[in-house]
Amino acid sequence: MLIRPEEPRDYQSIHQLTIRAFAPMSFSDGTEAPLIDLLRESGDLTISLVAEVRGKLAGHVAFSPVAIDGKHDGWFGLGPISVEPERQRQGIGRALVKAGLKLLEEDGARGCVLTGNPAIYSRFGFKSDGQLTYGQIDPREVQWIVFNGDPPIGILDFAPAFGAQHS
Ligand SMILES: CC(C)(COP(=O)(O)OP(=O)(O)OC[C@H]1O[C@@H](n2cnc3c(N)ncnc32)[C@H](O)[C@@H]1OP(=O)(O)O)[C@@H](O)C(=O)NCCC(=O)NCCS
Repeated sequence: MLIRPEEPRDYQSIHQLTIRAFAPMSFSDGTEAPLIDLLRESGDLTISLVAEVRGKLAGHVAFSPVAIDGKHDGWFGLGPISVEPERQRQGIGRALVKAGLKLLEEDGARGCVLTGNPAIYSRFGFKSDGQLTYGQIDPREVQWIVFNGDPPIGILDFAPAFGAQHS
């Protein structure tokens, strides 16, 4: 498996892969693929990594800046993340997350946040203490990893592209 930054030739494949990965998910509203395009267009796709298996796109992860209590202070959000359905549970998601977190930490980020199933993301090292909140989402699903400093406390806001998806 090869993990590498996205290139323009990947844009369409990332879009299609994201649609395929999220289609079976009951929580999905189908906005994940266009969200990645919007993040890219708005300059908020801070890190976009693809996983290739035998030269074929098998996974993708996006990271973008977030605000906590209205302040952009070195925190980034993970997501969307997608692995080709027939290649899930083979370690591709873990490799993508690990590579992205390493890049963020090397770039001096304070940490990374996400919303999602704690059963999955606790396996990647994400935690929750209920002090970071995001709308009506169960605070246990609002999770973080700290690289440097204190855990995040306050109201989380993702990049504007996330809101644009729901307006
Ligand atoms: C979520 C997703 C990216 C995980 O990628 P993956 O390649 O299947 O995950 P990995 O094989 O690297 O597994 C990483 C860890 O998460 C756990 N995990 C993965 N999928 C899980 C699931 N559905 N339920 C519980 N645990 C899960 C694995 O057991 C593993 O932990 P372990 O190594 O300690 O056993 C992938 O399943 C996916 O694309 N799902 C559809 C889209 C989606 O839901 N994205 C996330 C939205 S929040």
